[in-house]
Formats: sequence, C-alpha cells, structure tokens
Amino acid sequence: MGVKTKPVSIAVVGSGYVGLVAAVCFAEIGHSVVCVDNDEQKVAMLRDGGVPIHEDFLPELLARHRNQRLQFTTDLSAATQRAEAIFIAVGTPQSDSGNADLSYVDAVATQISRSIGSYKVIVEKSTVPVYTNEWIRRVVERNGTSSTNFDVASNPEFLREGTAVTDFLHPDRIVVGADSEAAADILRAIYAPLTSGDYYRSDNAVIGHRTISDPPPLLLTSTKAAELIKHASNAFLAMKISFINAVANVCEAVDANVEEVARGMGLDKRIGSQFLRAGIGYGGSCFPKDVAAFRYVAEQLSVDFGILTEVEKINEQQKRRFFNKVRSALWTFRGKRLAVLGLAFKGGTDDVRESPAFDVIRMLLSEGCTIVAFDPAATERAKLELPPGPAMQYVDDLYGAATGADALLILSDWPQFGEIDLEKLQTVLRYPIVIDGRNLYDPQQMLEHGFTYLSVGRPAMYPARERAGARVR
Ligand SMILES: NC(=O)c1ccc[n+]([C@@H]2O[C@H](COP(=O)([O-])OP(=O)(O)OC[C@H]3O[C@@H](n4cnc5c(N)ncnc54)[C@H](O)[C@@H]3O)[C@@H](O)[C@H]2O)c1
Repeated sequence: MGVKTKPVSIAVVGSGYVGLVAAVCFAEIGHSVVCVDNDEQKVAMLRDGGVPIHEDFLPELLARHRNQRLQFTTDLSAATQRAEAIFIAVGTPQSDSGNADLSYVDAVATQISRSIGSYKVIVEKSTVPVYTNEWIRRVVERNGTSSTNFDVASNPEFLREGTAVTDFLHPDRIVVGADSEAAADILRAIYAPLTSGDYYRSDNAVIGHRTISDPPPLLLTSTKAAELIKHASNAFLAMKISFINAVANVCEAVDANVEEVARGMGLDKRIGSQFLRAGIGYGGSCFPKDVAAFRYVAEQLSVDFGILTEVEKINEQQKRRFFNKVRSALWTFRGKRLAVLGLAFKGGTDDVRESPAFDVIRMLLSEGCTIVAFDPAATERAKLELPPGPAMQYVDDLYGAATGADALLILSDWPQFGEIDLEKLQTVLRYPIVIDGRNLYDPQQMLEHGFTYLSVGRPAMYPARERAGARVR
C-alpha cells in the first residue's frame, strides 16, 4: 500500500456497522487485525468472502485485506492474547429505563479479563455513558487481572452509516480519551497513518476530504470527557434535527418555506448548514438511544437537561404530523393502496433500526391501507420487522411500487428517489399525489408536472382542479 506505519496488533470485538468497518479500516492503514464476533454465522460468512452490511468501499477493502492483515474469529480469548489493543464495538441498545444496556460490554470485558497475560489497552469504541470506563476497569480487576496489565481508553466512533468507510478514513477528528501515557501512545500509533497524512499518499487510498496536507487532528482528552463528547455530539445533532423540524411546523402554519429559513440560518458559520433538513424525524441505531441514554445520565446526576426530553417529543410528533399530512391528501385510508419509497432509516444504508418509516407505515396499516414498498437495500431487513402479507407488500423497483397506487410516499432520502422520471410516475400512479417526507423535490416543479405535492415545512402544492378543496380536512 505504500503506507509507512508501525503495525499494531489489534482485536476488534463485534463485527457490526462499527466493528467491521473499524477492523477493515485498521487493516487498510497497515495494522494486523482480528475481528471477533460471537455470531458464528456472521463470522463464517465473513470468512467465506461475504459482506453482511451495505457500505460503499467495504467489499473492495474486505477483498483486499481478508486473510492478509485481517482475520475473522469467534475466539475472543485467542484474539485478546495476541492483541496490544482490544476495541469493544458491540451493541449498547436502549434499555426500558432509557439507559444504555451495557450487558454486552460487560460480557466482553469479563471474557477479555480472563485472557490478559501482558499489557493491553482496552478501548471503548461502542457508544457508552460516562463512567463506563470505570466499570470496565472494575470488571477486569474483579476477574483477577492486575491494574498494571491494562488500561481502559475511550475512542468514540463518529462514522455515519452509508458513508462509514470514508468517514472512518477521513474523519473530522479522532477523539482519544486516555488517562495513561501508555494507552495514549498505542492509540496515537494506531491512528498515525491518518494523523501524519501518510495514508493519503497511497495510490489506492480511499478518496475523501482529508489529504496529505490536511490530515485529521487527534484530540487527546480524559477518558470521561471522550465518553461525554460522543453522547453530547449525538444529542446536539439530534437537537438540530428536532429544532429545524419545529421550525418547519411554524413555516407550515404561515406558508413559508423551511428550506429558505434553513439556508438563511445555515450560512451563519456559528450555526452551519448540516442537520438542518426538515423531515419525518431522526431514527437509526444511534440518535434515539443516545439521546435517551444521555438524558438518563443527566437525570442520575441530578442535572436538569429538559431540552433532551423536548428533542425526543418533537421527533415523535413529527411522524404523527406526517401521517396527518397523508390523511389530508387522501381523506380516508381504508382500502387505499400507498406506494412507499424508503424503509431504511436514511438513504445509503440497509439499516432499519428505529426507522421512522416503520412508524409511519404502522400507522397507515392500522388504518386499513395497503402498502407497496421499495427500498434499494433494506427490504430483507425490513421484512423481519414488517412481515410481507396482503397489506404489506415489497417490490424490487420504484415504478413497480407506484403502479396503481393512490399516492406515493417518500420516507428515506436515497439519492435515486430524488431522480424519479416524473412523466413516467404520472402515468403509473392512480392519482398524481406525492407526499414527500424528505423534501427531495422542488414544490413548484412538482406542481408544474401536475402533482399534488405535500412536503415538510414547505407550501403544499395542489393543481388547480384540487385547490378549492385542499384546505378541507
Ligand atoms: N451504527 C452506527 O452508525 C454507529 C456509529 C457510531 C457509534 N456506534 C456505536 O457502536 C456500537 C456498535 O454499533 P453497531 O451499529 O456496529 O452494532 P451492531 O449491532 O451492528 O453490531 C454489534 C456486533 O457485536 C456482536 N456482539 C455482541 N456481543 C458480542 C460478544 N460478547 N462477543 C463478540 N461479539 C459480540 C454482535 O453479534 C454484532 O455483530 C454501539 O454502541 C453504537 O451506538 C454506532
């Protein structure tokens, strides 16, 4: 590869969206990596050359490094013994209290502790509440490992599904929370190919916004601060989304366009334009649970952080508001056939965890609609949540979903959903009605094409023949 690096022996525990991408990317920047999972089927698939998740560049990098610098195993003990750094990247789902369920992290820490023979740094890659590092330390010590033989560090991950590989190799920042020099040194060495810019010299490096002359900074903090950086960052981004959604609702009340408002706000460098897109609310495996977990942490610490409750409330309301918008266009639901574009929680991924599309679909199904859904990558995962049947149908092309439908609903922001052949759509839909939860079209353009077009925080468009009745709910 031409990347100059001092290889570090790494174990990554968990081969999900974060663990697999981290393992592949650590191999890509020159390290020797063992990726561990307790899901035997997944490990067998990875060993056989399979790619369990949909992410750009992942198939290519897996093919490049599998059985070279990257191995897959279910044997955590053997992987621990060999590794200098062990990254824990298992799930931290939401428990009933809102708190993060740390039982997977606990199980991994316990298992690791039984195999530590020489100094290791145990790295929290999973998103965890502040103080988790202390708990991991206690668990490892309780199982008989001397405190001189390990440190616990935090290295939160900021990748986004859909652009995970590029985000990992071209990060805005690398956060390392370490309370000892030994741990900090190992993590600095692991990321040196990125922070020195060396990786970007390589001819077959994955291209992104980082370059030799503009490598990512590594921010060294206390372990607790690093844990908090991740929760605070995700809560802040979720807050931006809920904020603009609330602004969108004000815009709807006065017939203003939220995109004009968001642009005017976003041009202010202090605000920034990202995450100011109104829609049907955030979802996915991170924001909902991380906001809840951060709220829980604050409650436990007697800190009044009520804004997080509001962020969640607005997010819930947004889905209901969208549902009501569909009602306002269709009047009644029973027996209506609706085309749904998008099941993933956002475009570019096959992840359907906490997808707002599901909440909207469930509301529509409960009212007696038939749904015909299309998603470029998430259909198989969606079928596990919403099993196929007469009322919930899945098709494998966009126009197939739209054919004969009473309206078309856009629920995920896949780029191809913004490039529909509108003439063709007109001919296949039963009624030319598009209700866009992701604001992918220009309302005026949709009107010119003869559509009734409802979106989020922007004026509703009704062709002349419908205008008279448009306000009748
Ligand atoms: N998905 C994201 O976009 C993202 C981004 C940043 C941070 N995170 C955080 O990273 C963590 C992992 O998220 P994910 O989306 O990759 O989860 P995931 O559910 O996709 O993957 C978790 C993996 O861990 C494995 N696992 C569970 N227990 C194990 C054990 N005892 N030993 C070995 N393997 C075990 C599971 O089989 C699974 O393959 C979470 O804390 C999440 O909040 C996720």
